[in-house]
Amino acid sequence: MDSALDIFGSQSWLRPAGIGAASAYDLTLAMTAGFGVVFVLMMALIALAWRARAAPRTWWIWTGGIIVPMTAILLVLTGSTLALVAMTRADENALVVDVTAHQYWWDIVYDPDGMAVRDANELVLPEGRPVTLRLHAADVIHSFWVPSISGKMDMIPGRVNTLTVTATEAGRFRGQCAEFCGLSHPRMAFEVLVLEPAAFDDWLTDSAGPARDPARTDLVAGRDVFAQQGCAACHEIRGVAEGGRLGPDLTRVGARGSLGAGMWRMNQGTLAGWIASVRDMKPGAQMPNFNHLSGPDLRAVSAYLASLK
Ligand code: CUA
Repeated sequence: MDSALDIFGSQSWLRPAGIGAASAYDLTLAMTAGFGVVFVLMMALIALAWRARAAPRTWWIWTGGIIVPMTAILLVLTGSTLALVAMTRADENALVVDVTAHQYWWDIVYDPDGMAVRDANELVLPEGRPVTLRLHAADVIHSFWVPSISGKMDMIPGRVNTLTVTATEAGRFRGQCAEFCGLSHPRMAFEVLVLEPAAFDDWLTDSAGPARDPARTDLVAGRDVFAQQGCAACHEIRGVAEGGRLGPDLTRVGARGSLGAGMWRMNQGTLAGWIASVRDMKPGAQMPNFNHLSGPDLRAVSAYLASLK
């Protein structure tokens, strides 16, 4: 299988594509330059002190030991506090999106107080429009981070942290859970798809509808396997099997770019492998291996899921 690095978008804060990431980048450059100056100044003062060690002067101690470090620390504190306040401030006009971290996947609900579109493991954002993310955790502490778009924010059970992000460039980016949360913490990534505003509105409206009806008989057979195996106890497919919220929503699962929370390319083959051996692909995942399925059943159910777009 392809490794995630080949198939997903940028995950680098060195190439910012969002307002938060740009301010973190600028802050890093300013700090590097500022501390470079402080370093040179300190070295000069040390050299001066060494040459005049027989007759020390107190202003050197004041300057090198207190005034220069205090000024540098205050500047850094001010800059980083302003950046943090800007990132966490809720925007009145922002679209609200609830993101809940689970071991090891992401539940995502767009516009939770309005049309409430549920999806998983792929965050779709409108270009140029602020989005306030309400970050929740279902089990242990996780951390939300899309380095190209914004700063990082912890997700803590029992509280809601907010992060306002504005993507400034359409394209595909990659996010990653940034807090150790168990065996498959490194396999808890996600994709971020930034769409132009009109395309985003179309996507949201389209995503609010129920799953498409299968057009072919093999897909109908796959939907029957989904029902017989009790998949609906954990997974929702709107219009087909509602109420299962323990696992990712599958209404548009075939439309996602990746499978297993940003780990493998999404297609029927990887889906079949995933269903049969999820515990081997992602140690510690809650879903059991469905390796008792017959070949035809596995083929049918994976074809059905891949068709849900
Ligand atoms: Cu979730 Cu690390």
